[in-house]
Amino acid sequence: MNDEQPHASSDDAGQTRQQENERMTELRDDKLVIITGSVGMLGSALMELAPAAVRAVGVDIADGDLSTDAGITSALGPSEPDVVIHCAGYTDVDGATSEPELAQRHNALATEKVAGFCAERGARLIYISTDYVFDGTRGSPYTEEDTPKPINAYGRSKLAGEQATQQIAADCLIVRTQWLFGPGGRNFVAGIVDHARQGGEVWGVVDEIGSPTYTRDMATALWQLVERPVSGIVHLTNSGYCSRAELARGALDAAGLAEVPISEISCADWDSPTQRPAFSVLDNRRWRELGLTPLRAWQEAMAEYVKLYLLETCTDRLTEFQDM
Ligand SMILES: NC(=O)c1ccc[n+]([C@@H]2O[C@H](COP(=O)([O-])OP(=O)(O)OC[C@H]3O[C@@H](n4cnc5c(N)ncnc54)[C@H](OP(=O)(O)O)[C@@H]3O)[C@@H](O)[C@H]2O)c1
Repeated sequence: MNDEQPHASSDDAGQTRQQENERMTELRDDKLVIITGSVGMLGSALMELAPAAVRAVGVDIADGDLSTDAGITSALGPSEPDVVIHCAGYTDVDGATSEPELAQRHNALATEKVAGFCAERGARLIYISTDYVFDGTRGSPYTEEDTPKPINAYGRSKLAGEQATQQIAADCLIVRTQWLFGPGGRNFVAGIVDHARQGGEVWGVVDEIGSPTYTRDMATALWQLVERPVSGIVHLTNSGYCSRAELARGALDAAGLAEVPISEISCADWDSPTQRPAFSVLDNRRWRELGLTPLRAWQEAMAEYVKLYLLETCTDRLTEFQDM
């Protein structure tokens, strides 16, 4: 577990930040890892599961907008991290379609600035990217060698973030993942369960295929990568893949809602402003070649998430879940 407050968001954020920066420079024995987007779904899992030998410090938008120089200064200050895991990003896929400049700012420009910070301080940058950099037409899982070809604004903004990472940060790793679910964030699994519990009709897209990935499994795996001098690109997801409809069915069954029917539709029938890749499964080949154990099956991970995090409380989460 980390020993830091994840982020400061109150009026005294400046003072807290200064104290935090002082602590950062005082305690240089442990590896200092800064996690951006630490309030988000993946970032919060990384903070919670940080190994004892690491000093994990989280920053999020309340500490500074990383797409601005002032935000970089206020969020990251004089710190000299060994590693920055850059999870912060604009993750509303339909929002990116209607306001592509926002996605570019938070995914491309912010990454450019974080990469510049890393280059200046000699820190390794681990950038979290997405299957949405691919067009989904390959027909088999994408390897790290496949050429990206995004088909929507979100994917283009994340690819621009990848390019900034590779061009600016001297020591960098890009980790692509997909269909994240986990505590503390808006996600498809929570959205489906909430929606069904509130009596809503559940729709499931049958021709959009991916690998659902549990943020806590992903976070544990990312900490393994922090410990290894890996560069380039790594694809990382839970094992197995399914359609959105199969994921919805699995989520409802795990939540004890087996009686709730799912109306199966195709992407073409779904009223969305955004074109999504049809089959964007990520082959975790490089992860396996590194000798690392494949992440468990998505069904097992999802059952754990539903049992531990969704069965007790569920009504307050957002139902805007069809984003990734
Ligand atoms: N969710 C998925 O299914 C999925 C799939 C593949 C890849 N990814 C990638 O994985 C990463 C983590 O995803 P997630 O779902 O955990 O994200 P998330 O829950 O949306 O959290 C992202 C956090 O970053 C913050 N942020 C956005 N722009 C920022 C900026 N300019 N400066 C500082 N903070 C900023 C957000 O603040 P606000 O909320 O206030 O904007 C939010 O707290 C992202 O890079 C995403 O692209 C996600």
